[in-house]
Amino acid sequence: MLNIGLLGCGRIGQVHALSIARMDDVRITALADAFPEAATGIAAKTGAKIMSADEVIASPDVDAVIIATPTDTHYDLIHAAARAGKAIFCEKPVDLSADRIRDCIKIVTETGVPFMTAFNRRFDPNFATLQARIRAGEIGSVELVTILSRDPSPPPISYIERSGGIFRDMMIHDFDMARFLLGEDAVTVFAVGAALVDPAIGTAGDVDTAAVTLTTASGAICQITNSRRATYGYDQRVEVHGAGGMLRAGNVLENTVESATGAGFATAPTQHFFLERYEAAYRIELTQFMEAASKGAAISPNIHDGLAAQLMADAAAQSLETGLPVSL
Ligand SMILES: NC(=O)c1ccc[n+]([C@@H]2O[C@H](COP(=O)([O-])OP(=O)(O)OC[C@H]3O[C@@H](n4cnc5c(N)ncnc54)[C@H](O)[C@@H]3O)[C@@H](O)[C@H]2O)c1
Repeated sequence: MLNIGLLGCGRIGQVHALSIARMDDVRITALADAFPEAATGIAAKTGAKIMSADEVIASPDVDAVIIATPTDTHYDLIHAAARAGKAIFCEKPVDLSADRIRDCIKIVTETGVPFMTAFNRRFDPNFATLQARIRAGEIGSVELVTILSRDPSPPPISYIERSGGIFRDMMIHDFDMARFLLGEDAVTVFAVGAALVDPAIGTAGDVDTAAVTLTTASGAICQITNSRRATYGYDQRVEVHGAGGMLRAGNVLENTVESATGAGFATAPTQHFFLERYEAAYRIELTQFMEAASKGAAISPNIHDGLAAQLMADAAAQSLETGLPVSL
């Protein structure tokens, strides 16, 4: 039995608690939230004790922690949990600063604790299958990767102001997906962006519409586009073109019913947003973390993957500011 301490019982903390409730040999024993009332629902369902974050980390009844608190708290919690010898599952992004992630790598390496960076999209059954088929050689060498990621509507301005910007907050998932699909790192990053959805996002110093072109050492090219708006729902697609063919994964719809009339064909809408679209991915990533942490096996994506995506986000922000490609 693996005992979990859950730090942060907000949107994503609740998702992880639900996933654990469906797993064997894993249970939540301790919970913390800056507002303890946020933890009461999970405590009632699991019997876990509500304590301070420090107490959760120090508890002998906790083998591993899930860090599901706001990004600016991850650094201190990672340091404390690593020093206490706990396995760490940390929400993305690890931090908004590459230097601070390097500090986290140091403590995680020194203490040797298992660590997963929660890039959940790698575990989406569609994207995972597509990636496995690339690696199995089905389309030969990868030449062009296209990743499209559009949210149904933008978050509040108060969120945008603390988010670190579209590249570090939203496109960070796509940077990791690019590395996952390409099988190699980017060597150049070129970004363009604009505030087309809400001028207030521009006033807050961010963009809501962005496109990034990546190149790799082998010559492969990847294009990522993001929008904070999609009138037709959450849009998540990838396409990979290789020397021997093409693989693509489309949106997941609310149901598979299709109608046809004289006006044309119609399908159900896409699954509403990330909590629905990636429900299976959240469960699979946590299962893989638990299995690896219990067995002491290698974990992927690890903290170095967290840094690699962050460096791409930083390069994209720099490219947008300067109008020039940035070398990594
Ligand atoms: N992988 C994904 O798809 C995904 C999706 C959403 C959020 N996230 C990440 O998860 C993290 C949390 O995001 P969220 O949307 O769940 O936020 P949220 O605001 O809904 O929840 C965060 C919770 O943490 C609590 N909290 C704040 N400081 C704390 C502290 N020091 N100790 C204990 N609890 C504390 C808050 O009271 C809140 O209940 C962020 O890093 C975010 O980027 C990842």
